[in-house]
Amino acid sequence: MRSGEIEILGKEIDVQRFPFSFPNGWYQALYSDDLEIGEVKALRYFARDLVIFRSEAGEASLLDAHCPHLGAHLGIGGKVVGSSLQCPFHAWEWAGDGRCVKIPYSERIPANARTVSYPTIERNGVIYFWYHAENEDPSFDIPELPEVVDPHFTRPWWRSEWTIRTHPQEILENGVDFQHLNPVHDLSPPEGFRFESNGPISTWTVGSSKSAEPLDGVTDTIDIRTDNYGLGVVISRYVGFFSTLLHLAYTPIDEESCRVVVGSIGKCTDESGDQAQSLLEAYMDDVAGQISRDKPIWENKRYRAKPLLCEEDGPIPEYRRWASQFYSEMTSPPGGEVV
Ligand code: FES
Ligand SMILES: [Fe+2]
Repeated sequence: MRSGEIEILGKEIDVQRFPFSFPNGWYQALYSDDLEIGEVKALRYFARDLVIFRSEAGEASLLDAHCPHLGAHLGIGGKVVGSSLQCPFHAWEWAGDGRCVKIPYSERIPANARTVSYPTIERNGVIYFWYHAENEDPSFDIPELPEVVDPHFTRPWWRSEWTIRTHPQEILENGVDFQHLNPVHDLSPPEGFRFESNGPISTWTVGSSKSAEPLDGVTDTIDIRTDNYGLGVVISRYVGFFSTLLHLAYTPIDEESCRVVVGSIGKCTDESGDQAQSLLEAYMDDVAGQISRDKPIWENKRYRAKPLLCEEDGPIPEYRRWASQFYSEMTSPPGGEVV
């Protein structure tokens, strides 16, 4: 191993790339329509094997995958029975809150018969779950987005997904790092960039004039507002001729990689919504192209705890101070002072 690497479960982790652990907060598990009533799915996030299921009453629950009894994977052959998940090995039943509610061959359930469950909420067509390194309860909320139920917006979410070898904090930093827009994305630096934070939510806004190719070279004036709900869920609104809402979700798979899921809806510009749907398609192609430009930088960069910044670099120190609240223990100071 090179210096700066540690070995976890036989896997070498380059700790110098990200000197921080998993951030606490809300994350996207699945889109709602990816989990039908009675369906069970195995997931892997936060370097943990997980199982998600939807009860017969329609409630989605997320548990650690391995049964506390003798270790079977509940997501491989487990079955929904009423409001519980039945283990495929000896048929013990687990409720969504993690309690064992039935042992088919025993009258007495051991008092400590519990598995780990993760708080979930379902709204905006998304199943969110709460991760906290010390299992503390949720300390903030994800809002209901009015556009999702507005008949003037397209639906369902137009979706794209990537697995990227990076960390959510690094991806969100990209939003406030506006000096990368020109070299990486061929976009002119925005005017009037503002970053502010209020507890677990941070917001950046910008007004820009952008030539939108899906609109046949029409120059559209776009106001952008991006709200970060912790480091896992980002809502970005583009208001212009063609208004869109992006739901961006960044969920760590393990210490080195992150699932990036982008959903978008657009405001209908004609009666049928067909024009908006094709504009959205072209727009999301553009988003995918922009992410493919960021990806090689994200996957090969290192986090500089004390970066060498100049005055025009924008609110990177402010962003990092805000982001530091989501860690139970920082292994390095947030950094970001102008030198
Ligand atoms: S391993 Fe799950 S019931 Fe035995
Ligand atoms: Fe970027």
